[in-house]
Amino acid sequence: MSSDIDELRRELDIVDVVSDYIHLERVGTNFRANCPFHPDRTPSFYVSPSRQIFKCFGCGVGGDAIKFVSLYENISYIEAAKQLARRYGIRLKIKDESGEKAKIHQILERVAEFYHSKLKENREALEYLKERGIEGITAKKFMLGFSPPTKELAEFLRKEGALEIYEKTGNITRLDESKFRDLFRNRLVIPIRDPRGRFVGFGGRLLGGEGPKYVNSPESEVFKKRELLFGLYEGLNYLRDLKSAVLVEGYFDVISLHQEGFRNAVATLGTSFGKEHAQILSRFVSRVYLLFDGDEAGRKAMRLATPHLLSAGIDVYPVFLPDGMDPHDFISREGKKALKALIENSSEVFQLLLERVKKGEKVEEAVRDFTYFASFMKDEIRSFALLSELSKLTKIPLDILSSKVYRRREEPPSGEEDRLSFTERVFLKGLFELRPEIDLDQLNLSHRARELAQMILREEYYDVPEDILNLRTTDIEAEFEGALERLRIDIPREELETAGLRESVREMIRSHKGGIKPSALRRWRGGA
Ligand code: GTP
Ligand code: MN
Repeated sequence: MSSDIDELRRELDIVDVVSDYIHLERVGTNFRANCPFHPDRTPSFYVSPSRQIFKCFGCGVGGDAIKFVSLYENISYIEAAKQLARRYGIRLKIKDESGEKAKIHQILERVAEFYHSKLKENREALEYLKERGIEGITAKKFMLGFSPPTKELAEFLRKEGALEIYEKTGNITRLDESKFRDLFRNRLVIPIRDPRGRFVGFGGRLLGGEGPKYVNSPESEVFKKRELLFGLYEGLNYLRDLKSAVLVEGYFDVISLHQEGFRNAVATLGTSFGKEHAQILSRFVSRVYLLFDGDEAGRKAMRLATPHLLSAGIDVYPVFLPDGMDPHDFISREGKKALKALIENSSEVFQLLLERVKKGEKVEEAVRDFTYFASFMKDEIRSFALLSELSKLTKIPLDILSSKVYRRREEPPSGEEDRLSFTERVFLKGLFELRPEIDLDQLNLSHRARELAQMILREEYYDVPEDILNLRTTDIEAEFEGALERLRIDIPREELETAGLRESVREMIRSHKGGIKPSALRRWRGGA
């Protein structure tokens, strides 16, 4: 597949392709526009003809011309490639491997449609949905289905000529020459799609009788539970618009929350929430509300999910449901307005813990949780600021609190962070936001930091890792100033302390070159 797609990519001109969809404005050697993938009042979407890529500094999406079309049209990458090839009259050969995967996605979609068509014929399943207050339109949106006795599915697959290939998903098992067993038979079927909308597998809920409450498709090349979130595809535009997600525990929580207007609700497929889930969410949102069941399991799940979210740079807002209630119960009893209020009035996790300390509620536990969670934050400046606040409040010396945090900081989130010092990262971020006139030769920078600084000065932001541009800072001017001081090579230490130098650094910052306004940047990223 790759060589052919590579060829197509070489034939395409990204400016042409993107211009078919949105109006691009020229800035120097690049182009920009308001980002079509998130609400964007200032142009934060850039296209680089020299690199043939686009990048949005607001929501973080980026990639080549094919990726743009796949996102814009909400189709798979391969589909977008095919579409572009047709549009520009380029011949595209796609090799077997990806062809087979695409076929599996297609057949999964056909099977989902098949199950969906059977829902209408099954009284028990319809009755069940009705009892749970799931409306027809919701069942349709999620393409809920019912799996009749396997014979019917096997027949359907045979007619489609897809029996063999469908076997590879593990959703049906061959019993003998002609007999199969459908993993989901007699269950209410919930199709699961990946963020691109491709059908990847199913969850099946028991309606009555014996067996586990849920079964899921087995892990496979197309069905990777660690990377999938139920509701993500269905709610993608809402997640992007709101820049937040509501993480819940189960399939039915997602379905009923979407129905009640909380369309940014997502859930794992019954597995615990992990690093990959957090990374995927961080592409779309900056804040996650944890709306877990009000029981011990729910509280435990909350503690487990929080570190992953924080380490992906996402702000965490735990929302507490009354004991023993799940989101659906809560809506039935209190109404959706009450749930909305509960979500909107929730506090960010560190603020929540500080509140607890202030109120003298389980102080020791709150302090332990605080330092534990802080140790997962990528942004040291922010965690340091939070620790200072905690230290002031509790009178526990800051170095004791910080030693707890920094000793534990173990998981370096990206290779980039290893290669650059924190000072360099602050410097690069400041360079990006403040655009000062600066002579890089006067600074003591690593090779990689210099390379990135040059890119930023040339306004080629596309290859600058997001970690850096998203580095959260509280006072970028002051922090940048500090970083510059630390990076100046030829200045004796004493002089660093003098006001004269500070002034000269300030002067540099003041000779602002224009370009992107820092305030606008902060707005794109949704602020801290
Ligand atoms: P209802 O019980 O119908 O309200 O469904 P729910 O989606 O709210 O399920 P629940 O809160 O009991 O469980 C949360 C999630 O855990 C489910 O959505 C499933 O993904 C998963 N789960 C629950 N029970 C089972 C099971 O027996 N087997 C498997 N594989 N997963 C399960
Ligand atoms: Mn439930």
